[in-house]
Amino acid sequence: MEIVIQQTAEDIASVVADSIEQLVRSHAAPILGLATGSSPLPVYRELVRRHAEDGLSFARTRAFLLDEYVGLPQGHPESYREVIRREFTGLVDIADDHVQSPDGFSSDVATAGTRYDAAIAAAGGVDIQLLGIGTDGHIAFNEPGSSLASRTRLKTLTEQTRDDNARFFDSVDDVPYHVLTQGLGTILEARHLVLVATGANKADAVAAMVEGPVSAFCPGSVLQLHPHATVLLDEAAASGLK
Ligand code: F6R
Repeated sequence: MEIVIQQTAEDIASVVADSIEQLVRSHAAPILGLATGSSPLPVYRELVRRHAEDGLSFARTRAFLLDEYVGLPQGHPESYREVIRREFTGLVDIADDHVQSPDGFSSDVATAGTRYDAAIAAAGGVDIQLLGIGTDGHIAFNEPGSSLASRTRLKTLTEQTRDDNARFFDSVDDVPYHVLTQGLGTILEARHLVLVATGANKADAVAAMVEGPVSAFCPGSVLQLHPHATVLLDEAAASGLK
């Protein structure tokens, strides 16, 4: 695992955008794995800037989201499909039907996960997977206790994650209890994992992910098993490392 410590979230965004730009300019059919939440937002802002100012085109790119809430109506502004459209894909030249997310609106969520994994495989697999980490160590919405071999499936959010995500809703009562999330096994199949964490509230989770044992208690620790994982931190998020 490669650890990169930068001064600011913008510095991190620039390093990550460089990797994505290199992929998108050089590959005939690049596949991006996209995360939502606050951590990747500076990356998306930088990519949108490069699209507008430097002619960086995403016309040949396809994208797969990590996860989606279950229980929100289609088109809800906090559904991850809408969030990613608002923050990134709707602001660049990626075709809307080239962006896929787990179908949390399906009447058959039990099989939606299998269909999603099949769609990722049929596209050729993810080239660069962006990730954030939850304060409890989750990646995507694989909460502590998730199988290291898990595939895309229905999961229940912990109270801690619902509290953490309440900032995006009017109240914690509006945060869904369930999600469809890529599994840890699914995520590990991406060719390059790029995890961004900033702020002191991530320091414990980052320390467990980087220096703790590989364990379902800290789902992020599966990055230790990946041959090409890059973790980008500011000094506050890195402050728990020895
Ligand atoms: C979101 C996701 C989550 C977030 C994590 C950190 O698609 O997969 O794992 O990355 O909850 O969220 P932020 O970045 O908001 O602290």
